[in-house]
Amino acid sequence: MSKEVILTGLRSNNELHLGNYLGAILPMVEMQKKHAGKYQLNMFIPDLHSFTTPIDHTKLYEQTLKNLKVFVAAGLDTQQPDTYIYRQSYISAHSELTWILDCFSYFGELSRMTEFKNKSSNSENVSVGLFNYPVLMASDILLYGAKWVPVGEDQRQHVEFTRDLGMRANNKFPGLFIVPENNAKQTEFAGRSEAVRIRSLRNPDKKMSKSVEDPTGTITLSDTPVDAAKKVMAATTDSLESINYDWEKQPGVTNLLQILALLSNKPQDEVNSQWQGKSSYNELKSAVADVVRDFLTDLQAKLAQVDSRALTEKLESDEVAMSKVASETLLRVQQAVGLRSAA
Ligand code: TYM
Repeated sequence: MSKEVILTGLRSNNELHLGNYLGAILPMVEMQKKHAGKYQLNMFIPDLHSFTTPIDHTKLYEQTLKNLKVFVAAGLDTQQPDTYIYRQSYISAHSELTWILDCFSYFGELSRMTEFKNKSSNSENVSVGLFNYPVLMASDILLYGAKWVPVGEDQRQHVEFTRDLGMRANNKFPGLFIVPENNAKQTEFAGRSEAVRIRSLRNPDKKMSKSVEDPTGTITLSDTPVDAAKKVMAATTDSLESINYDWEKQPGVTNLLQILALLSNKPQDEVNSQWQGKSSYNELKSAVADVVRDFLTDLQAKLAQVDSRALTEKLESDEVAMSKVASETLLRVQQAVGLRSAA
């Protein structure tokens, strides 16, 4: 029997940030270590997803390769059998399946996607790509029959949409897709008690984000360790003077506790009970600044050592291998919908 697939993707519209690392890269690296040999791992760059909102196109190609290197620096062992890295646009089945799935997706459900609503709310020229983005994401997942899709909290709704769309297609064409597990199971599989949502350090009611103009609230993975530590020390908190893990009342402080637990690889409860009720926000910020500084120093040292040539070779050979897998799924779909003669 073939192995279950764990799959995730990170856009290359900009530098990766701490939220991307803690929400998707770290879980993937942890899963690879924990389940070595038992699962297939697909970690890819959805480059076609990278300009649903405007970007500097002269940087996209290099940014994609740079982000792939970050995966390796973060600990992804690309040489492990059954681990695949690739660029979405190099596998044309992603785009082709998207069109077919578009015809089974509803305008209403896509209009209700929170990310679409957030990103389109202040913009006059909303691209069709932004609207259609979850369907391309569904194709990314369904082409490889991925059951496990580690993502941050902001992308959970899109995984649920993928599941709905896959099940809808299966009702019409029995057995067509393997669909991802529901959100509760995804969280359990990732060994977490809740989905990860790292907030902006300056506006803790918002998520840390690549596309929002929020440089002081976002720690990018290429920030110098000293600058990143300064951002932590300047983080917005509150005036309650008591440390509590409470997203509603104290999002700034809670965000810091979450970052501290994840970066020091400790259970959230343990970190919370260590800090609970203490009054010095400065002490908490210093502790977070220290782990962030150490994390970036280590990551950037490893990044400098990544063998670009070996990475490109692996990338290109994986793109060939995954094109084969994706084409097989696409053919089954084409047969089911009547575009190709039935097998
Ligand atoms: P993207 O590129 O915006 O983000 C990549 C991953 O980082 C997570 N993330 C966060 N996690 C916690 N806190 C944050 N502040 C934070 N910001 C971002 C995201 O949840 C995501 O896991 N559509 C996807 C990319 C994609 C994809 C896929 C993912 C395309 N196809 C198939 C999984 C499977 C996106 O835009 O993520």
